[in-house]
Amino acid sequence: MSVVDDVKARLDIVEVVSGYTNLHKAGRNFKALCPFHQERTPSFIVFPETQTWRCFGACGEGGDVFSFVMKAEGWDFAEALRILAERAGVELQPFTPQQAERQDANDRMLGLLNEAAQFFHTQLLKAPGAQGAREYVARRGLNAETIDAFSIGYAPDDWRQALQHLQMLGYKQDEIVEAGVAILNEDKGSVYDRFRHRLMIPIRDGRGRTVGFGARALDKDAVPKYLNSPQGPLFDKSRLLYGLDMARRAIRETETVVVVEGYMDAIQAHQAGFHNVVAQMGTALTEDQLRQLDKYATRLILALDPDAAGASATLRGLDVARQTLGGDEAMTFDPRGIMRYTGTVDMDLRVVTLPEGQDPDDLIRENPGAWEQLIERAVPVAVYVIEQGTAHLSSQSSYYEREAAARKLLPLLTATESDFQRNVNIQALARRVRIDERTLIEWTQRRRAPKTRTVPSIRQQRRLADVPADRTPATSGPPGQSTFWEGFCLYQLLRQPEQLFAANRKLRELQGDDGALSEALRKLGPEDFTRPEHQVIFSYLEQSLYQDDDEPLEYLYRHLPPALIAFVDELDASPLERLEQGLQGSLRIELQSVLREQARLSMTPELSTDLLIREALTLRHSRIERELAELYFLQEDALAQGGDLTEWDYQATVEANRRARERIAKALQTRHFARNV
Ligand code: UTP
Ligand code: MN
Repeated sequence: MSVVDDVKARLDIVEVVSGYTNLHKAGRNFKALCPFHQERTPSFIVFPETQTWRCFGACGEGGDVFSFVMKAEGWDFAEALRILAERAGVELQPFTPQQAERQDANDRMLGLLNEAAQFFHTQLLKAPGAQGAREYVARRGLNAETIDAFSIGYAPDDWRQALQHLQMLGYKQDEIVEAGVAILNEDKGSVYDRFRHRLMIPIRDGRGRTVGFGARALDKDAVPKYLNSPQGPLFDKSRLLYGLDMARRAIRETETVVVVEGYMDAIQAHQAGFHNVVAQMGTALTEDQLRQLDKYATRLILALDPDAAGASATLRGLDVARQTLGGDEAMTFDPRGIMRYTGTVDMDLRVVTLPEGQDPDDLIRENPGAWEQLIERAVPVAVYVIEQGTAHLSSQSSYYEREAAARKLLPLLTATESDFQRNVNIQALARRVRIDERTLIEWTQRRRAPKTRTVPSIRQQRRLADVPADRTPATSGPPGQSTFWEGFCLYQLLRQPEQLFAANRKLRELQGDDGALSEALRKLGPEDFTRPEHQVIFSYLEQSLYQDDDEPLEYLYRHLPPALIAFVDELDASPLERLEQGLQGSLRIELQSVLREQARLSMTPELSTDLLIREALTLRHSRIERELAELYFLQEDALAQGGDLTEWDYQATVEANRRARERIAKALQTRHFARNV
């Protein structure tokens, strides 16, 4: 039995909940006014038999004793576990001292940087010496709201103010140096502020935590124009994207991300209401950054400066994009195992070229409408690449020149697209260089490595069936039917967390225009799982997709309560055979056919996404069944007591759940999902 099971077995949910709201017995269950929202008639039910709770009113939520106290107290799972375990008299394994130490150091550094950002921000708003800086931001058209939202600040024209302020708050000199806010002169042993008389732009990670600064010179001839925090564990320019914390929601909603070159460009875009914009960190896009964006966007638009340097930076950016998101060429390109970066989703990559001499900042300030149009006119990468790579050719160019240009472009154009796109690209190039298509194809074939793209990511490499069968499970007993799909679903999400988005898209798609289904067919959530461990692991997996500091799995291992890490390891290693033992009847046959198909097709990305969607829908199906069962129970109870359930929109809820269940059942009969998602 896991710690969580143990805690649950020893606590009675009725007793725990009664500490928060007055429970009244109603048939087999207990009723109360929902502690989570204001109501006059009780719609909050506790089910002692299943040790669960649900609000049939405005919240529409439910769960077990853990989710209850987490919601009631605002605790995270680790806290809930600690406190409930104590209450139940169950002992927990402590954090290892190293884990705790690393966590503390990290937190302290973040705290320091946050204080520094606030100090600079206050300076900009209030300090008499910041008058010039205030005039500067006004001249650049930044309004108060923007200055606030991006916490823009001013570093005083002084050697020690930031340092002293932070020391006053209790930070040590070497911590301040380590955070990059101050500099140590080793010869003299003196310490002084790194940023002086500069406009301070805090650089935040995807979760909105300040990890460093970009500091713009206020004096015209000061070099460098932008002084950034030194590279470090928190401030890693190859991973950060400026503005991502502010942009993520819009990126997800529009499924489009616009990448600009400068901090100011991004800030200006946000101020003008274009929220799906992020800025590079003064370097070309990296694989890491692209993978982060790939999670949220299906389309990426590079809006980079038109100057020569800009154009080549764009090409560099594109190069990376292809290697990261594309296919076979990428793997031969980098022997270190670029495969790890080879995503399974291809983003639609587009490019906009800005008018000569303007950057997005200028353009947006001048005319936001023009910016919008420009973005709409972004051209596919291939078109851009062909234009750039053949711009030097004229109608008088020799065959030799044209061949050289074509040979240079071909690898880029044929590297990653589908066969169809490949042909389109080659046709376009053929027209441009006036060389026969078939000749171009021949050139590509001679230089193309054999197709090896059967296994799209390293996580998929450890394919389901390859896992050794002789690992003995650490938990007792075979998993029940009901938790089989849960384990399977997590098992697969542990390999490819991003697949969750495909499942959620499917659920949204099933809603169609039926607004009443938005609840029953909302995105997959912890409540779709019944085991508390599964719920928590799922929550962390989900969170891992909404942050950019770590690889999702790294994130999971870093944040998961220690008590659950062993559980994940076990889940991750669970041979399917073992899971299968717990199954009977039709489920078992279904699984076998899945495995057969998988072996035959060697788990293509489509098939793998298919499976996950199937799992997600199956989980939702069971969840709806559970909820319907609860609703029926309630109705029986109510009738037995001569009452009714009108106060909860009972009938409408039942109807919606039934309709949702029907749609899911129908969808589950489809053979393949991924292609239609
Ligand atoms: P730009 O020189 O194009 O700056 O550098 P900008 O964004 O247009 O800035 P303003 O409008 O003159 O204020 C683009 C990006 O390159 C990085 C920064 O990230 C900047 O936003 N950069 C530039 C540096 O890191 N250091 C520099 O010295 C210059
Ligand atoms: Mn600029």
